[in-house]
Amino acid sequence: MDHDIKDINLAESGKLRIEWAERSMPVLRMIRERFTKEKPLSGIVLAACLHVTTETASLVRTLAAGGADVYLCASNPLSTQDDVAAALVSEGHHVFSIKGEDTETYYKHINACLDAKPVITMDDGADLVSCVHSKRSDLAPGILGGTEETTTGVITLKSMADRHVLLFPVIAVNDSNTKHFFDNRYGTGQSTIDGILRATNRLLAGSWFVVSGYGWCGRGLASRASGMGARVIVTEVDPLRALEAAMDGYSVMPMAEAAPLGDFFCTVTGDRSVIRKEHFEVMKDGAIVCNSGHFNVEIDIDSLEALAVLRRNIRDFVEEFSLADGRRITLLGEGRLINLAAAEGHPSSVMDMSFANQALASEFLVNNASKLTKKVHKLPDDVDNEIARLKLESMGISIDVLTPEQIEYLSSWEMGT
Ligand code: ADE
Repeated sequence: MDHDIKDINLAESGKLRIEWAERSMPVLRMIRERFTKEKPLSGIVLAACLHVTTETASLVRTLAAGGADVYLCASNPLSTQDDVAAALVSEGHHVFSIKGEDTETYYKHINACLDAKPVITMDDGADLVSCVHSKRSDLAPGILGGTEETTTGVITLKSMADRHVLLFPVIAVNDSNTKHFFDNRYGTGQSTIDGILRATNRLLAGSWFVVSGYGWCGRGLASRASGMGARVIVTEVDPLRALEAAMDGYSVMPMAEAAPLGDFFCTVTGDRSVIRKEHFEVMKDGAIVCNSGHFNVEIDIDSLEALAVLRRNIRDFVEEFSLADGRRITLLGEGRLINLAAAEGHPSSVMDMSFANQALASEFLVNNASKLTKKVHKLPDDVDNEIARLKLESMGISIDVLTPEQIEYLSSWEMGT
């Protein structure tokens, strides 16, 4: 099987939308120009398990320009843009993903990419790496290394490395500053609000908006919700982050106290059952619940289902659960990443930096994998800083440089006075 997509006839619309996205991806464009000349990925079979979006298409084109043979599957059953999948297949790439695919098809598609015997794996959520380790470890000796896009994936991989079971090195793209400071914060912040609004068309101004988790994604989401006029409540388990949220001006309280107050709830914790039975039991009629963390485990949907006497789809990505006492609780996007299920994920301009990191991480693996331990590594700071420099340049922003006198001052300890 060379590809498995919804409909190849969607290719033209996909190509136009990719063209639009690429206009906001100047850093990746520059990398592609260099890759086209230098072919650093020549002969590399690369399996990528990413959200199949216009931005990912731009990354696939860049990797292919560098000489890689790319096999792409989805990192979430609901995040595929079918026209993008069609466009990539029409350009000769191997894509296995269909929006709304069931769990069996999802894993069949992951395995189709692994059947190509990749030399590099590129993950958003560690599904390729997990599959290699749990079911296809015969492939591991042929794998130079992997890259990982997201916080949740990095946590899984670091725990595998700590237990000495990781079979090849992985670059944590998420840990680059030009990734998590921007993608997780501004990307998740804007795209999550976008997903909620496209799904519901509700007014945020004046509403109570509960953000669970105050990592980079939670910070971005709280700030954007507040910018739209919502009154934001943050729930946290980490005292430092809770303190930061309080000093950023948000109300901080346990979920048990937030549950009866919230109009909107969005989880971005990376952990499971953050919103569960005891919280649904005290929510207001009409409360809207969604998730923007990687896996659909943050909301305990089984307990919501068990409480419900009636369940119906009321709009696309909007499912209403009626409880015995007459209250209705609304779940968006089946509890999956709402920014990718109901909207289009992070805007291209922010994915430009994330995917510049991915492209440079695969080049880094080709040049350095033999020197890397079977652990989780960061990209070197000079690569990270270069991406920031190129992004600034593309935005027409110049900055000051240190004078010789300032350099001397910073490097000396005698000049304190
Ligand atoms: N993750 C979040 N937003 C994304 C996007 N637009 N493309 C690919 N992966 C993403």
